[in-house]
Amino acid sequence: MRILAIETSCDETGVAILEGKKIAGGFSFTVLGQALLSQAPLHREYGGVYPTLAKREHEKNLPVLLERALKSAGMALPPPVDALAVTHGPGLEPALWTGITFAQKLSHEWKKPLFSINHMEGHLISSLARLENNNHQNSSGKELYLISNIAFPVLALLVSGGHSEFVRMDDWFKYKIIGETLDDAVGEAFDKVARMLGLPYPGGPEISRLASSARDAGIPASRAKLPRPMLQSGNCDVSFSGLKTAALYALRDMGGAKKLTAEEKAAFAREFEDSVAETFAAKTRRALNETAARTFVLGGGVAANAHLRTTLVTMIRKEFPDVEIHLPDSSTTGDNAVMIAETALIHLLAGNWKLEAPHNDIRAVGNLRL
Ligand code: KG4
Ligand code: ZN
Repeated sequence: MRILAIETSCDETGVAILEGKKIAGGFSFTVLGQALLSQAPLHREYGGVYPTLAKREHEKNLPVLLERALKSAGMALPPPVDALAVTHGPGLEPALWTGITFAQKLSHEWKKPLFSINHMEGHLISSLARLENNNHQNSSGKELYLISNIAFPVLALLVSGGHSEFVRMDDWFKYKIIGETLDDAVGEAFDKVARMLGLPYPGGPEISRLASSARDAGIPASRAKLPRPMLQSGNCDVSFSGLKTAALYALRDMGGAKKLTAEEKAAFAREFEDSVAETFAAKTRRALNETAARTFVLGGGVAANAHLRTTLVTMIRKEFPDVEIHLPDSSTTGDNAVMIAETALIHLLAGNWKLEAPHNDIRAVGNLRL
């Protein structure tokens, strides 16, 4: 079965064409063609994503990316796909609508059914997929992903610019949020603290780079001590707004970010990253105990964070040796349309959705929940 998927929930425009099959114990996906464009450089001067600009850029880029994705798949118009899929939330509504409107137009022109996808389900499903081989390609030159022999229950930690949530998955398509942020998402905290340090948007990768330079160079600990939020809360919820404020005050007490030496800045970035990683390690321990999960998966843009990955893997291997760990390749953690296509394919291949019963009247839902 072949799907053409579109993702426009935030500041990445993505189009992907995938072929999916049922295999023994799971599913396989071949990326036939894809095109992805990040608007991050354009939003940098605003210090974050500027919704009107995002909408305009998606509108401008979608036709170009469609052409590029079709070309990389070696397909002419109308493409030989069985259905279309589009992200309908969560995300920025003006941005989501551009993808939905574009997908509806193609669905109408090509007379192919259209399905709407939850962006967070996309992060979760795609993070369960493993790249089949090391060089990212099979003999046909196309990326091949496998999702197979998943042991339920699955515990997913989804961390992105808009979300921080623990999801228990008892079976395919059965999701329950068992903990989430009470205020800011972790990616948002990374971006805001980076901004305080005078680093460009998106700040996550910048903080991560500085923090690892501090670790590698053995730079002494920061004078600032930041809290590890919500450790005593007795549940799996997290909160990053207090950490962000603590970072603001700590920087002010040190005379402002501009007064810090390069070493002090790096040490501060490390202290912030340590706080986030230690908090998630403690909450993940709790969530694994609570769910008796047999599989752990990390997904979302912040899943690219090397220190978070290492901290979680070290803790789980030591304390929960029987839990199988799925970490997505860091090249696939950011927003993209491959994850949207994989999610649509899995619903259709598993028989949860039918090609004959497409989703009519799709609407953008900014705060859509799993
Ligand atoms: O999932 P995503 O691409 O978009 C949303 O759905 O929000 O996540 C974007 C977030 C941004 O906040 C970005 O700073 C963060 O992921 N991020 C990182 C890293 N790479 C991206 N945060 C920490 N460390 C990273 N290496
Ligand atoms: Zn995302």
